[in-house]
Amino acid sequence: MVEATKPAASTGGLAGVVVGNTSVCTVGKGGHGLHYRGYGVDDLAEHVSFEETAYLLLNGELPNAGELADYQARLKAQRNIPGALKDILEQLPADAHPMDVMRTGCSALGCIEPETAVNNQEKITDRLLGIFPSILLYWHHFHDSGQRIDTGTPEDSIAGHFLHLLHGKPASELQQRACDASLTLYAEHGFNASTFASRVAVATLADFYSGITAAIGTLSGPLHGGANEQAMELIQRFKGPDDAEAGILKALEAKEKIMGFGHRVYKVCDPRSDVIKSWSRKLADSLGDDTLYRISERIEEVMMREKKLFPNLDFFSASAYHQMGIPTGMFTPIFVFSRTAGWAAHIVEQRADNKLIRPSAQYVGPEPRAWVPIEQR
Ligand code: COA
Repeated sequence: MVEATKPAASTGGLAGVVVGNTSVCTVGKGGHGLHYRGYGVDDLAEHVSFEETAYLLLNGELPNAGELADYQARLKAQRNIPGALKDILEQLPADAHPMDVMRTGCSALGCIEPETAVNNQEKITDRLLGIFPSILLYWHHFHDSGQRIDTGTPEDSIAGHFLHLLHGKPASELQQRACDASLTLYAEHGFNASTFASRVAVATLADFYSGITAAIGTLSGPLHGGANEQAMELIQRFKGPDDAEAGILKALEAKEKIMGFGHRVYKVCDPRSDVIKSWSRKLADSLGDDTLYRISERIEEVMMREKKLFPNLDFFSASAYHQMGIPTGMFTPIFVFSRTAGWAAHIVEQRADNKLIRPSAQYVGPEPRAWVPIEQR
């Protein structure tokens, strides 16, 4: 008889447990650093576009100029929404959470344009990367002002497309570059909760859309993607840096979690945080009002001093997005636009060497016992 082994305490939440192989990225090797297919994320965010990053994640190599032009044209051709999906988006409540709209939009597209063969996965990835901003903004404008917007825009980039649809006009070069860099930073992160959910879903041989829909639902929680929205709500509570310091000290005393701080894997810093922080600074300068930035920076100082906790990507993303005029409820959907590249790379990898993912659990319930008739309970 094999005796059940008691899992070590450190396996709570699967922390530190290796559950598979991947060649997509490394997270926190040596406590810090993030590499997509071997390239440092800070290098990528500084030097290449999100489309180059997505191509890298999906194909293993950065594109040359011709490959990039083809790829951008392919993605740009995917921005139209089929009539049946427009009808569904119009039926959704005006006050639905935008992440629920993304999840429903993805699932509905899976009915309208189903995956008919596994070799369709590249086309579906292009489709989702191209259409996701259109889905969000079609729903948003229909319910906000009754407009049925045309979801085609002249911008080549997903960042430019999204900001143009949101504001109804082209965004500034600075805003487009900041948004594009944030998409690169969010694109991939190893076996995080949503990626793992997508791999679990497709490992059952479920279709591609099921993998992405499961991932979107998993991403929506405040301990994962939803943290950037909660960080914004926190920052907006304060009038200035001193007020923020007092408020954070009080929250820590009450043992509250401060959203946008801490990380399961990184122990020294989140390598993405300084990159998005510098964009947040540039956006504040361009607006001529750095109140939000200074509040954020003070919270960062207090959290380091009091708890030795550093900001993760979500914290300075909040002020950066807000300063681009993006409503808070759209912060996590932007994460979806970007992470779809990472999810898709993992789904393809999972399918290439598939095994059903079905872990065991340590049973802590009652010993076997006899059934009791209802009148004797
Ligand atoms: N604010 C205050 N305290 C925090 C904290 C935060 N954001 N993050 C961690 N801590 C504290 C915990 O209270 C705990 O303290 P304790 O040992 O005294 O109980 C300790 O640090 C360990 O935290 P724990 O939640 O067990 O770590 P984890 O590895 O399970 O969690 C996160 C990692 C990301 C879920 C956690 O840091 C968190 O909830 N952060 C806020 C949400 C967030 O920003 N999520 C986005 C992640 S990219």
